[in-house]
Amino acid sequence: MRDMTRATIALLMSRVAFAVVTAASTSPPVSQAPLSATAGVAQDSFPETDGKTALLRVCSHCHTAETVIQTMRTRQEWSEVIDQMARFGAEASDQEFEQILAYLAKHFSPIMINKATAKDLEATLDVPAKVAEAIVAYRLEKGEFKTVDELKRVPGLDSVKIETQKARVVF
Ligand code: HEC
Repeated sequence: MRDMTRATIALLMSRVAFAVVTAASTSPPVSQAPLSATAGVAQDSFPETDGKTALLRVCSHCHTAETVIQTMRTRQEWSEVIDQMARFGAEASDQEFEQILAYLAKHFSPIMINKATAKDLEATLDVPAKVAEAIVAYRLEKGEFKTVDELKRVPGLDSVKIETQKARVVF
């Protein structure tokens, strides 16, 4: 914080206020908004696993929790964001910060569909090992995936799952 001027902080806070207003006043088509379909069920954007409670508690003071998950980030990038938020004044125990990091890395990190190993895909895409291996086998046989539709052709891969996760898929 010490290297930030008052003006910078004012600017940052006004950007948060703007983001909050924008988020509240627009309702994007449901088909394009897998992360926050309707305001009433906004919390459903957050999968029910460890870390959710900490995230909602710690990360919704200055902006909405939805603001946090607008962009996919790698684990390393999430770690940097959390450090920055702590400098901005986010308060939590080390254990809570760890839980939040794990949670964001698990659900809101990019799925490197053409680079990830089967093990990585099993974790980031949350699919059975057999399906993750089928993705890698398909990739080896036909070359890199270029579209979500192509990905849906992998035998055994649930296309509904791909639809819900497609914002995370990086080709
Ligand atoms: C003390 C206030 C405060 C708390 C608590 C807080 N943030 Fe922030 N957050 C900010 C400010 C200020 C910005 C705007 C920074 C900017 O626009 O560059 C921001 C922006 C963000 C952004 C958007 C960054 C970008 O430019 O893409 C993310 C992601 C984020 N916060 C994550 C978190 C997470 C995760 C937590 C909980 C660990 C959290 N925030 C808690 C103040 C806070």
